[in-house]
Amino acid sequence: MLKYVIRGGKPLRGTILISGAKNAAVGILPATLLVKGVCRIENVPDISDIRLLLQILDEMGASIRRFSANVIEVDCTNVRDSVAPIELVRRIRASYYLIGAQLGRFGHAKVALPGGCNFGPRPIDQHIKGFEAIGAKVELINGYVCAEAPAAGLSGARVNLDVVSVGATMNIMIGAVLANGTTYIENAAKEPHIVDLANFLNAMGAKISGAGTDVIKIRGVRALHGGSYSIIPDQIEAGTYMAAAAAAGGDVTVQNLIPKHMECITAKLREMGAKITEYEDAIRVVSTGRLRRANIKTMPYPGFPTDMQSQVGVCMAIARGTSIITEGIYDNRFRYCFELNRMGASIQVDNKVAVIDGVEKLHGCSVKACDLRAGAAMVIAGLVADGTTTIEDAHYIERGYEAMIEKLRGIGADISRIETPSQDNVRTAG
Ligand code: EPU
Repeated sequence: MLKYVIRGGKPLRGTILISGAKNAAVGILPATLLVKGVCRIENVPDISDIRLLLQILDEMGASIRRFSANVIEVDCTNVRDSVAPIELVRRIRASYYLIGAQLGRFGHAKVALPGGCNFGPRPIDQHIKGFEAIGAKVELINGYVCAEAPAAGLSGARVNLDVVSVGATMNIMIGAVLANGTTYIENAAKEPHIVDLANFLNAMGAKISGAGTDVIKIRGVRALHGGSYSIIPDQIEAGTYMAAAAAAGGDVTVQNLIPKHMECITAKLREMGAKITEYEDAIRVVSTGRLRRANIKTMPYPGFPTDMQSQVGVCMAIARGTSIITEGIYDNRFRYCFELNRMGASIQVDNKVAVIDGVEKLHGCSVKACDLRAGAAMVIAGLVADGTTTIEDAHYIERGYEAMIEKLRGIGADISRIETPSQDNVRTAG
């Protein structure tokens, strides 16, 4: 059992450093299975999702060396053609990338259906559509996704995605890198982590172009080789601390980010009244006085990210006027609103729309982290609120935020972490 306890109401001041991008790293690590050689990866976030993926690779026979908290070398040369342990796979959504990676490396894959944060149904039909297009036969057998390449190997094809999917785009890219011929992913997702995975694979010898646009071209190569790569900064971690500074007030510089990746978050917080200055690799957020209302609709990149919806939702909960959030990606990503209402917010949720009547104050109480980003929203609410906020199930937060407690203390927050032993701390996320 893990709790965070926050005594709120203190303005935030100082500089906060951003770690490597979780959703890039969770694709890049499984993709090392394709490489016979040493991949040196820098700026790997030290978060529990990554530790879990490294454990899965280790169980499969990868050789892993850690040089520091954020620099590792993974060598999958001698990895076994085996089934990754179901009890680990089911704890992380990103384990679906093992399907593309095993299919590419061994010509077949057997991976338990992934778990993940519960935002309603999260199908993987588009991943399967892509693997089938490049020649694999895919079946669901007893909760496992089983994929088999033809005897002559996978072959390049055109895949037109029916929905813009981060996971499907990255998984098909991983599966097609070693296929014969050229694969085109049309209606591809364009998130920064898609580009980062393509850059990682290219650094190891792949021939991928167009990542970051809606058509990605993957010319199959015979083999990948070892190399070095540094993961991009985490857009959502950076956005979370920007939202925290806007909501709690103060003067915070969020350092080691790519301002271009932050554009629509920056624009929204500016619209709400925060003063934001962009530098080459940093953004300064100055916030005094009450924020103004705004609306958001979550969309694939470069639209407003669903993974920032709850954090900006807290800003709206204390803004002047009525804000509306329309969730455009998931069916059920408003559970945090009920927790915010316990703290005095006034939010009505109807299906995929939340109507938020801004209140002047939130009040500390005991709340739950319903998932990773909902947990981050509770932290921001705790920083804003009067009195003490206790966040239960804080394990979720540590799936995706490196050293959040230390980072927030560094800018003046009064936050502590209390861990008590429990039999029941197995959670899924991502
Ligand atoms: N979808 C389908 N079929 C598919 C795949 C997706 O219908 O085969 C639908 C989904 O149900 C959803 C939409 O397409 O409505 C977008 O889903 P996407 O595939 O883009 O999401 P994902 O790959 O499951 C990743 C991140 C999420 C993030 C989303 C959207 C990982 C491990 N997860 O999920 O991250 O919300 O992209 O950007 O990379 C988080 O970091 O907190 C998190 C949940």
